[in-house]
Parts: sequence; structure tokens; C-alpha cells
Amino acid sequence: MAKTLIIGATGTVGGLVLEEAVRRNVDVRALVRNKERANLPGTVEVVQGDLADRESVAAALKGVDSAFYVSPHETNEVEIATIFGEEAQRAGARLAFGGFHVEDDEARAAASRAIPAYGPKLALAAFLASTDTQPAMFSLTNFDQNDEVFRADIEAGVFPTPLHPGGVNRIDLRDAAEVMTNALTDPGFEAGAYQLLGPESLNGEQSARIWAEALGREVVYTGADPEWRKAFERRLSGQKLVDWIRSFELLSAAPIGTDPAEVEIMTKLLGRAPRTLRDYVRDSVNR
Ligand SMILES: NC(=O)c1ccc[n+]([C@@H]2O[C@H](COP(=O)([O-])OP(=O)(O)OC[C@H]3O[C@@H](n4cnc5c(N)ncnc54)[C@H](OP(=O)(O)O)[C@@H]3O)[C@@H](O)[C@H]2O)c1
Repeated sequence: MAKTLIIGATGTVGGLVLEEAVRRNVDVRALVRNKERANLPGTVEVVQGDLADRESVAAALKGVDSAFYVSPHETNEVEIATIFGEEAQRAGARLAFGGFHVEDDEARAAASRAIPAYGPKLALAAFLASTDTQPAMFSLTNFDQNDEVFRADIEAGVFPTPLHPGGVNRIDLRDAAEVMTNALTDPGFEAGAYQLLGPESLNGEQSARIWAEALGREVVYTGADPEWRKAFERRLSGQKLVDWIRSFELLSAAPIGTDPAEVEIMTKLLGRAPRTLRDYVRDSVNR
């Protein structure tokens, strides 16, 4: 049976890819930093290691047919992605990447100049895309699951995430995980860059209203308050806090539209329409 390695399995993105792969009875191995803390399903082969430790990465990739990579919130993210790409290539594994990738060299250079904070992320994705791993490079829009970080605030009546009034495309990571798992399990999945997205762009007010309806209580959007970073500081720390603040500075400054042609491609990849934020919130509230 084909085997797949999942990076970031204890985190948000990798965790949902792992969940989907386990649901499909895929033979899964997960590389984790702490085996005792990991708490993964019993069918998963859990190996301990660190992305910064080349030997443990090479050992984790041994004998796998495919591997999922998500770049953790780490200051050495370029270095660890480089190790992973090189070792995946050496192991002959196909690679699926979930994050942010701009395929065109000129557009990527322009994006790096416009958003210097994203330079390392763009560089590491470009490196992974250049490896001989049949790479499937998935770019994801704003996650519906981000709201869970602020779940206690939302339940207390405040939606604090700044989203541009023009709307930001929001994706349910469960949909992304389905498509990315297809890439892991199908040896014929075409290498290349894919934009994964949800069916609509929503601003902060609209997102707050969806939560309010599901919870049956008032939820006030406070993301337009210049002090919005304080809510992030209460819920996040370290490099994750730095990355999230940078991302939401961008998301509050510019909209992310929804291209119907891209939604059509997403629908084809999924074999059904992508989930709405309303679908996500309903499932989350009823869980
Ligand atoms: N588009 C969006 O809305 C959005 C939102 C958030 C994040 N992102 C992007 O998604 C990525 C982060 O994914 P995430 O949200 O799933 O992160 P996350 O929940 O913080 O999970 C990170 C995972 O990586 C693991 N990890 C960290 N450092 C490691 C190392 N040195 N060796 C091995 N494993 C390591 C962590 O394991 P431990 O259990 O050991 O810590 C954890 O499983 C970033 O690239 C970020 O830019 C995008």
C-alpha cells in the first residue's frame, strides 16, 4: 500500500490533511516533534524528529510515496523547507505543498518587493516547486478555521479579525484538505500551481453576522478598531503572532476577490461546490 508522510500533523492545516487521509484509510506517517504530546489516531505511524534535523527528515521520508508540507511559523522556515525539499527529492517522494505560492517568476519578484514580509514564504515555495518531486503547489485563501483562535471572543460577542470592507475570499480547510489528499494519493495528480478557495469573499461585518446567526446572539465586528492587534496578542504568541499580524495587516488593507473561474476549477477538483463560511460555522457550532 502506498505510504504518505504528513508534516504539521499536530497543527491546523496538517491536522486536517491527516484527518482526511485517515478517513480514506491511507497509510499515514506523521513527523512530530514530541510523540507523547502528539495524540494522533492509532492507525498513524508517528515518528519523532524535527524539520531542522536533516537526518530525522530523511528517516521520516524513507519508503514514502508522497509527502505533505506546510511551512510552520518558524523563523528558519526557508532553511527547513530547503532541507525537506532536498530530502523529499532524494527519497523519490511526490510533494504536495499547502500555503502561498506564486508560480510566475516576475510576479513573485514583484510580490516580494510589495510585501517584503512574505519574501521568505514566496522563496521557500519557489524552491519546493523547483524540486524533482512532481510538486503540487496549493495556494490557500483566508481560512474559515482562523476564527477558532478567537472563538472565546466570538462567543462573548466580538469578532475581532480585521477583514477588508471589500471582502476577503475565505476557504474551509476541510475542502483544501480533500484536494490536497487527492494529490497525495493519486500518483497521476498533475504537478503545478493550484489556487484553492471558497465560494465567496466576506468582510468582517459579514463574517460576524454569520457567527451571530449561528450562535443566536449579537456579535459585533471590532476589526476596524485601530487596536485590533491587542486581540491577537491575547490569543497568540511568538512567531505565530508575528505572522498572523502581518497577514491581517494585508487582509485589512486589500480585498481578496472571488474569481468565478477559479471557483469552477475548485468545484471540479472537489467534485462538488466548496463549503461556505455559513456551512463551516454551522458545523463548528454543532460539533
Ligand atoms: N491563509 C490563512 O488564512 C492562514 C492562516 C494561518 C496560517 N497560514 C499559513 O499556514 C502555515 C501554518 O500552518 P498551521 O496554521 O497549520 O500552523 P500551526 O497550527 O501552528 O501548526 C504548525 C505545525 O508545524 C509543526 N512544527 C513546527 N515547527 C516544527 C519543526 N521544527 N519540525 C517539525 N514540525 C514542526 C508543529 O508541531 P508542534 O506540535 O511540535 O508544535 C505543528 O504541527 C503558515 O505557513 C502560515 O503562513 C495561513
